[in-house]
Amino acid sequence: MKAAATLPPALSVQGLGKAYGERAVFHDLSFTLESGEVMAILGPSGSGKSTLLNCVAGLDSWDAGRVLLAGNDLGELSDDGRALLRRRTLGFVFQAFHILPHLNVAQNVALPLLLLGHGPDPARPGWTGDSRVLAMLGALGLDGLEARMPSQLSGGQLQRVAIARALIHRPPLLLADEPTGNLDTRTATRTMDLLLEQAARHGSAVLLVTHAESLAERATRVLRMD
Ligand SMILES: Nc1ncnc2c1ncn2[C@@H]1O[C@H](COP(=O)(O)OP(=O)(O)OP(=O)(O)O)[C@@H](O)[C@H]1O
Ligand SMILES: [Mg+2]
Repeated sequence: MKAAATLPPALSVQGLGKAYGERAVFHDLSFTLESGEVMAILGPSGSGKSTLLNCVAGLDSWDAGRVLLAGNDLGELSDDGRALLRRRTLGFVFQAFHILPHLNVAQNVALPLLLLGHGPDPARPGWTGDSRVLAMLGALGLDGLEARMPSQLSGGQLQRVAIARALIHRPPLLLADEPTGNLDTRTATRTMDLLLEQAARHGSAVLLVTHAESLAERATRVLRMD
């Protein structure tokens, strides 16, 4: 077994640059995120925060530099290779949830496990979770909701389902794009507590876009985009 010190960083961004036509979104951006680190990205609307997250996830292209996910150079991979790497190494919490409406809560949370070929088939009609899924739901305060359909949940509950789904496969890196942006302040604080607590428990590094300085204060580092 390799010693922890020799593991590659969860994320390494090296001299990254992206422009739309003449207009640079970012230029020569470099940083490294080790396991357990939390980096907040602050910046006004249009400053490139979502674009950066999409590049890191291999969902968008860039013009210069390199992105390494858990030591794997994204630029050297085919589309299929990138998709596989994304499944293994990433959790993504989107502002708009992206919870699948025709699957129940447990099935939504278990999706990454299904895609990785781990465990029973959660797509079976009426499947309401195994011990991993139920433990994750419990940790996020969603006990007893495993059989509910997404349309029967509040906004805060939906966002916690999205967080559970992003962490169920213990990804080395969690990307979160304003994960509490459309929740009230109290719910947002509580949801952020749960996100950081669970990420820390699983040793995931976190790259977190937020507009709230109070949430950014809880990060180990802050990246300001302008
Ligand atoms: N396909 C595209 N073609 C041209 N410009 C684009 C395209 N997609 C995004 N942009 C521009 O790139 C810039 C960065 O967008 P991005 O979505 O990353 O901003 P953001 O920081 O996430 O903003 P917000 O806080 O509003 O979510 C914006 O000025 C946007 O208009
Ligand atoms: Mg955005």
